[in-house]
Amino acid sequence: MKRQVSESSLLNPGSFKRILFIGDITGESALEALERQLPLWRTHWRPDFVVVNAENLAVTGHEASSGFGMTPAGLARLFGLGVDLVTGGNHSWDGPYAAEVHRDMRVVRPLNYSAHAPGRGAGIIKREGFHLGVVNLVSRSALSQADAPLDALERQLQIWGDSVDAVVVDFHGESVAEKLSLAFAVDGQVAAVLGTHTHVPTLDTRVLPGGTAYVSDVGMTGPGGGLQGIAPGPFVESLRSRLPATLPMTLATGTTEFGAVLVTLSASGRTALSINRLDAAHGDVRLWQGAGAVAEREMEPEREWAKGAELRVLEGRNDPC
Ligand SMILES: [Fe+2]
Ligand SMILES: [Fe+2]
Repeated sequence: MKRQVSESSLLNPGSFKRILFIGDITGESALEALERQLPLWRTHWRPDFVVVNAENLAVTGHEASSGFGMTPAGLARLFGLGVDLVTGGNHSWDGPYAAEVHRDMRVVRPLNYSAHAPGRGAGIIKREGFHLGVVNLVSRSALSQADAPLDALERQLQIWGDSVDAVVVDFHGESVAEKLSLAFAVDGQVAAVLGTHTHVPTLDTRVLPGGTAYVSDVGMTGPGGGLQGIAPGPFVESLRSRLPATLPMTLATGTTEFGAVLVTLSASGRTALSINRLDAAHGDVRLWQGAGAVAEREMEPEREWAKGAELRVLEGRNDPC
């Protein structure tokens, strides 16, 4: 059942921590769109932490399998928007700037990959005494030589112990069953397991019985109208020929899609109360399809402008699973 929720009911006093997570940012047009959208989300939803997956931030080559990655200039623009930490995936090491990118402590790459590859797989964001641990994992379906993701995560949780207040996991992979299995395996131990990589947003936002927020895929933030943000030509060619594509990889040119979720932590801070999708397809601020009530927060006087924004909540499951 769909219900309209008045803005005042969403924006009342409260102190629950909020994490805004944005999925696979794909290409320059997505970055430009995010430069317009993220300040609105930050003003309106006031997240305490902003984490983004940016493995497709830049196009650095002609093939979809290896032609993405990040650049220092692109990362600087993200950090300038208030992004706290950047995650990656199978494209973490694409492009000529990979070594430089991974010297930045605000960038993490899959934890369950070779220790000899540049970068680190986990990071901690510290803000106002709260320590948020972020772990990046990759599935073997996305990176065939990856180690077992659950083993790597459990080792990291043991290393951190009580030194972090909450943990968010970006699990980058194809398989919904694998992502859910991992989420259930650590249900109650981490605040959220958020899927990335497919670039397709899924509607299964839920809070598991132990309090772990989950979504199979956050979805990309990138150009629509194509195939995972990419013009379909090389993929169609390859499907027909069963050979590597000869056509160069180019990005799609449709309207930007925003894949993003807002996770609200419980009072203890260790688990989650809710997970909701944010969407801005029409330039307004909309909250839709979520699980659990959004923790309420005071609206500052200078935020009065937002009262004109269209706000919609599609009722999600509030019961466990
Ligand atoms: Fe990926
Ligand atoms: Fe991606």
